[in-house]
Amino acid sequence: MIYLDNAATTWPKPPGVTEALVNFMQNVGGSPGRSGHRMAVEANRIVYDTREALATLFDMDDPLRIVFTANVTQALNLVLFGYLRPGDHVVTTSIEHNSVMRPLRYLQSLGVDLTVVPCSPEGVLDVADVEKAIQPHTVLLAINHASNVVGTIQPVADVGEIARRYDLLLLVDAAQTAGAYPIDMNQIDLLAFTGHKALFGPQGTGGLCIGERVDLDRVLPLTRGGTGSQSELEEQPDFLPDKYESGTANGVGIAGLGAGVRFVLEQGVENIRRHEQMLTERLLAGLQDIPGVHVYGTHDARRQTACVSFNIEGVEPSDVALRLDEEYAIMCRPGLHCAPSAHRTIGTYPRGTVRFGLSYFNSIEQIDAAIEAVHRIASKARVA
Ligand SMILES: Cc1ncc(COP(=O)(O)O)c(C=O)c1O
Repeated sequence: MIYLDNAATTWPKPPGVTEALVNFMQNVGGSPGRSGHRMAVEANRIVYDTREALATLFDMDDPLRIVFTANVTQALNLVLFGYLRPGDHVVTTSIEHNSVMRPLRYLQSLGVDLTVVPCSPEGVLDVADVEKAIQPHTVLLAINHASNVVGTIQPVADVGEIARRYDLLLLVDAAQTAGAYPIDMNQIDLLAFTGHKALFGPQGTGGLCIGERVDLDRVLPLTRGGTGSQSELEEQPDFLPDKYESGTANGVGIAGLGAGVRFVLEQGVENIRRHEQMLTERLLAGLQDIPGVHVYGTHDARRQTACVSFNIEGVEPSDVALRLDEEYAIMCRPGLHCAPSAHRTIGTYPRGTVRFGLSYFNSIEQIDAAIEAVHRIASKARVA
C-alpha cells in the first residue's frame, strides 16, 4: 500500500503520536485549564507543552500567542470574520483554498471589498501585483504559503515586508507548509496552521499564531463561552489565548499534536524538507518523461512543496485515482481539491487534476512504483 494523499492528511504518523493519544485517554483524562486536581493539571501541562513546541517551531517568544482551533479552516475564519468589517479592503490571491475563498466571498456580500490578485498559470504570485492592489482602505493581505494544488511556495517574506511598509496585517494559510517548510513568524502577523498534515497530529487540531503587531481589540472572537479563567465574569476574557479559546479544548488531540510537533523538531524541518524535495524532484522528472502525462506547476522541486498535480491525456482524474487505488494500492486525490480558483488559475477547471501529496515517510521505492503505475495507465490510454 502506498499512501500519497498527504496533502489532504498525513499517514502514517510518527512514533509517539498514537501513544500520546492513548496516554491522554487512559491516564490523563482531565479538563485542561479547568479544575485544580492532578488530572486537570496534567492535561493543562500537556496542552502548554504543545504550545511551547509550536512556538519553538515557528520561532515565537510567547507560546500564549498560539490559539488552538479545530483545524486551519477555523483559524482562518477566526481572523477573517473577527478582523474584517464592511468597508475594509482585503487582498488575496487566485491560488487560495476555499477555506480562505469562501469566507471572503461571503464577507464580500456583507460589504467587505475584495481584490483577488491573479497568480501565473504555474501558480506563482508576483509580489509587485500585491503591492499594486493595495488601496487606502486595505487592512489585510491573506495569502497561502503554498498551493494545495501545485505546491508552489509563495514569497511570504516579501509580502510581509509590504504589509509592514503599508501598516497592514499579513495572514498566511500555512496548511501545506507547517512542519514541512521553514516558517518564521517574524515575517507574518497571523499564521493559520492545521495539525493533521505535516505537523503529524490527529485530525481535529490546528491553530492560529498571533504576532505582536496585531491589535487584539480589533479581532473579535469567533465564539464566546467558558474558558476556565475569570469565571466570575459574564464577559469574555480579553487576554491570550483565552479570548479565542472558548469551550473545553481537544486535550487528547492536542496531546497527539504535541508528539507530532516534537518529532518534527527532533528530525529538523530542514531535513524533512530535504527528503521531500528529493522525492518531489524524482517524481516530477519521472512523470514528465511519460508520454501523454501533463504535469502542472513550476516543474521545479525547489520552488514547491511535495505536492504534485498531473493529468493523463484521455483519462478522467477520478478514473486515474480509482485505478491507482484498485490496481496498484496507491492512494491519492483527484478533482478540484477544494480550490476551484486555483484550478482556474492553472487551466484545469472544471476537470481538475490527479494530486500526489508526498510526506517525510514516503520512500524512493514508493515514488518509483507510483511513476511506473502512471506509466502503465498512460500507455493503456494511448493504445485504447
Ligand atoms: C491550503 C489549504 N488551506 C486550507 C485547508 C483546509 O484544511 P483543514 O481541513 O485542516 O481546515 C487545506 C487542506 O485541505 C489546505 O491545503
